[in-house]
Amino acid sequence: MAGEGNLPLLQSIGASPVVEAPALESQHAAYIVKQLKAFRDGTRNNDVGKIMRNISKEMTNEEIEAVAEYIANLH
Ligand code: HEM
Repeated sequence: MAGEGNLPLLQSIGASPVVEAPALESQHAAYIVKQLKAFRDGTRNNDVGKIMRNISKEMTNEEIEAVAEYIANLH
């Protein structure tokens, strides 16, 4: 369970992936920062239920960068 998204979990319990959180483990920090900022300012809006837009709105640049750094180092 290291940045693999929620698809394996959904499949393991036989649930349909209504809201699929994508795998992030192999993304570079700069890409994650870019996507979180795009969700925050609304230029990216393909998140079901606004889940990414709502949470990224609460994040500072420093928090986005720290999370991106952490995720980019998951293996
Ligand atoms: C630590 C928590 C999370 C972080 C840092 C995070 C970060 C991200 C990032 C960087 C993307 C862009 C991925 C890409 O372009 O490949 C993304 C997309 C997305 N995330 Fe999250 N996410 C988190 C939790 C969640 C959760 C819990 C859900 C829902 C169960 C979720 C739902 C989505 C959806 C629906 C997308 C768009 C999927 C698509 O492009 O098809 N995220 N997230």
